[in-house]
This record gives sequence, C-alpha cells and structure tokens, in this order.
Amino acid sequence: MRSGTSGLVLAIETSCDETAVAVLRGTQLLASEVASQIALHVITGGVVPEVAARDHLRVLKPVIQRALGDAGIALAEVDAFAATRGPGLATSLMIGTSAAKGLAVGFRKPYLAINHLEGHLLSPFFGTAEGVRPAIGLIVSGGHTMLVQIEALGRYQLLGQTQDDAAGEAFDKVGKLLGLPYPGGPHVDRLAKEGNAAAFDFPRSMLDSGDFAFSFSGLKTAVRYLLPKLATLPLADVCASFQEAVVDVLVEKTVRAARATRQRVVALSGGVSCNSRLREKMRAACERAGLELLIAPPALCTDNAAMIGYVAALKFAQGASSPLDADIDPNLRLVPA
Ligand code: KG4
Ligand code: ZN
Repeated sequence: MRSGTSGLVLAIETSCDETAVAVLRGTQLLASEVASQIALHVITGGVVPEVAARDHLRVLKPVIQRALGDAGIALAEVDAFAATRGPGLATSLMIGTSAAKGLAVGFRKPYLAINHLEGHLLSPFFGTAEGVRPAIGLIVSGGHTMLVQIEALGRYQLLGQTQDDAAGEAFDKVGKLLGLPYPGGPHVDRLAKEGNAAAFDFPRSMLDSGDFAFSFSGLKTAVRYLLPKLATLPLADVCASFQEAVVDVLVEKTVRAARATRQRVVALSGGVSCNSRLREKMRAACERAGLELLIAPPALCTDNAAMIGYVAALKFAQGASSPLDADIDPNLRLVPA
C-alpha cells in the first residue's frame, strides 16, 4: 500500500526527553508507548542532551517492540514510518529519524518527517469526528508558546509567540527557584491547588500589548525577588499566584485571538495544557465567549508519538512522503519565516 486512509503508520518521537512510539491504522490509534527520562533528568535538574540521546538509543528498540505488541502487528505490516525531525535536541532527533529511515529503507516503505509543533497543534483534533478544522491553536509547552490560526492541515498563520521564556519553561524555572523537582510544572500545579491565587499580585506581562506576543521572564524575576523571604511565605500561595498570572495572560490572549480572527473553535495543546487551572479558566472563558474548546487528553498533551503519528497519517492519506535525505532541524519552525 503506498498511501490511503487506512494504512498502518509507525511513528517515533525523540525530540527531547521522552522516547515514544505509536502505531495507527489510518487515524485510529492502536498503540502509544512513552518511556520517560524524567528520573534521569531529576538528578541534573534539567535535560543534558548527551544523556538524553544515549537513553533514546538504549530504549528505542524495546519501546518499538512494545508498541507493535500492543497493536498486535508485525513490523513487516507497517505501511509507512514517521519520525519527528524538529524542533528539538539535535542528537535526540537523530536517534528517532535514523531509526525510522532505517526501517523505511529495510522494508521498502515511505518515510514521513514530521514537525513536532504540528503534532502538538493538531493533537486536540485527534479522535474527533470532524478531524482538523479551522480554529485558534494555542501551543504551550516546555519550548514554545504560540498562538496560531489553523486554516486546514498544513495551512497555519502564526499570530504571536513568546519573546523570551516559554510558558512551560517559566513553570520549570520557577519550580527550580522554589526548590521543586524537575520538571516544575506539574508540582506547581499540585501545590497551587492548596494556595491563594490572590496572595501575590504578579505581573500579567504584555496583556495589553495589543498583539498576540507573550513574555514570561519578568514574571520569573518577580518570583525571584521573593526568594529572600521564601522561608516565611506559604509556598502554595506563591505557586497559585504565579500560575494565575501565567494562565490569565494565556486565556485572555487566546480569546482575543479567536475574536480578532472570527474563529469559533479553540484548540489547546502542549505539556502545559495539562495544567488544571489553565483547563478550568480556558473552559470558562470559552463558554462565556461562545467558543468551542478542544483539549487533548493529558497523555496526548505532553510529548508522545500518537500526535506525530496523527499528522503522519493525515499526510500519508494525502499521498505525501519525505525524501530519505530529509535532515533533522533542531530549530524547525511551524510556519516558515
Ligand atoms: O509538550 P511537552 O511535553 O514538551 C515540550 O515539547 O516542551 O511540555 C513539557 C512542559 C514542561 O515545561 C512541564 O513542566 C509542563 O509541560 N507541564 C505542566 C504541567 N504538566 C506538564 N505545566 C504546568 N502544569 C502542569 N500540570
Ligand atoms: Zn513537545
């Protein structure tokens, strides 16, 4: 089978610190395996690229085997092999793309090079009856914060992005300042549940900048100023107030972007879309504004291969494939500059 709507796709994602493999039949998910390296990176308080790459190399083959086992298919049945080609850590990207290319060559099947950001962006549509449709996409991950107008598969307009730290990066850096384990995001979220979000009036940076850009580094600095007094402050209040400031800006700018572009659907994606307060406030704001909100289930918000496989399956169904000399691109953009 060269392409079609029900081909079997095996997708590999190794852009950062998760080794992930998914198997899809058409756009139906048969298996999704994620081997997290968090335990490794907790020791260093962040990702060390060489450590990440070595671990991808160590676990990729067993993770592929587990995914095939879960899906109940053999490698020889796969119709196309896909991998994330960027953005991400060069050495990590090289492991996944080399494996997918090798399999494609070995089994004489097409190879599909996929953009990690497109994977995140379209993940909220995965499993929906309508599939990809016009929407405002907000990607909030450890590496990116961007508002995107989605017109159709492969047709995106970048409305705005962060000028410094990504939202997830801000959560992780503030987590580190507060002495929480890596990555800080989920820990801040958990602690914030017990805290008072109005305890500290942290800046809502660029809320009224009149565009769709973001900035989170000032907020991180505002938290740093509290550090000398931290021992006497309720940690939960700091977490809740910081989180509220991030969430307020994300929600407000997303709703404004939908209004400005006359979109009726909001598609929220990326690791930070696991955040309970963001989900809650985005849901309430979308309801008030008469917008339909799509959020992927939490397992598809953080890095996974199912979202890579979904984009690959949609492109494969259109007859697309990538040349085997398609290189990795650590700085790959969603929309070419
Ligand atoms: O999408 P992702 O898995 O990887 C990237 O492509 O970057 O996102 C990871 C980011 C990390 O910064 C992590 O702290 C954040 O998502 N994150 C959260 C939560 N869960 C994950 N941030 C806030 N609240 C959460 N519950
Ligand atoms: Zn990601």
